Amino acid sequence: MQTHPSTNTSKHSRDEARIIVALDYPDPGAARAMLARLDPDRCRVKIGKELFTRAGPELVRAAVDARFSVFLDLKFHDIPNTVAGACDAAADLGVWMVNVHAQGGPAMLSAARERLERRETRPLLIAVTVLTSLEAADLDAIGCPGTPRERVLGLAGLAHRAGLDGVVCSPMEASALRAAFGTGFRLVTPGVRPASAGAQDQKRVMTPAAAVVAGADDLVIGRPITAADEPLVALAAIEAELATVPPAEAG
Ligand code: C5P
Repeated sequence: MQTHPSTNTSKHSRDEARIIVALDYPDPGAARAMLARLDPDRCRVKIGKELFTRAGPELVRAAVDARFSVFLDLKFHDIPNTVAGACDAAADLGVWMVNVHAQGGPAMLSAARERLERRETRPLLIAVTVLTSLEAADLDAIGCPGTPRERVLGLAGLAHRAGLDGVVCSPMEASALRAAFGTGFRLVTPGVRPASAGAQDQKRVMTPAAAVVAGADDLVIGRPITAADEPLVALAAIEAELATVPPAEAG
C-alpha cells in the first residue's frame, strides 16, 4: 500500500484525533457557531451537500482558516474528467479529505487520484461504496446483483486497486474490510453512537470504542455532539471512551 507523505494532515498537533464532527446544519450561521466552539486540535469536521450548497466554498475556507481538517463530503460521481476537476477544486480549498462514489468505476477513480497526485500537497481521497440507505431490494431495483455486503467488498476492492486512500463504510463492515485490505487502507465510519446517546435515524450503530476495535480509523459523528446541550462535554465523553481502547486494538 502506498503512503502519502504529502497529504495535508500534519497541521494537527493531535494527528490521532479520530472524531470527525458532521456539521449537518441547514443554517450556515449555526455551522459557524459550532466551528467557533470546537477545537481543531481535538476533532475534524465534515461539510456535506446541504451545508455546502447553502454556504459554498466560503464556509469551507473559513473552517480551513480556523485550522480545521475538513472532510468535504460531496460524493462526486460523474465522468472521469469532471470528477478529477472537482477533486482538484476541493484540493484548492485546502480540505483534508474528499470523497467520490466507487460506482463511478475504475477510470473515474484513477482519474481523480492521478489529478490529485499532480499536486504538491493533496487531500486524502476516499470512496463511498454502497450507501447504507440501500438494501438488497434497492440494489436489485437498480440492476446490481448480490448482497450489499458483497458489493461493499467488491467496490472497496475497486477503490483499493485504483490507489485510493480508503472508503466510507458502516462500522459493521469495518472488520471485514480491515481483514481484506490491511491497515494502510483508511476506514471512515458514520453510524457511531455513544451508549448514552439515542440512535435517531441510524439503524446499524456501534459505540465509538467498538467501531475502533472493529477497525475504524475515523469516526463521523453528528447529532450526538451537535445536538447535545453541551457539545464539548459530549465530545469529551467520546474522547474518554476512545482512550479506553488499548492501542493494539485501536490498530
Ligand atoms: O448525526 P449523525 O451522527 O447520524 O451523522 C452522521 C453523518 O454521516 C451524516 O452527515 C450522514 O450524512 C453521514 N453518513 C451516514 N451514513 C453513510 C454515509 C454518510 O450517516 N452511509
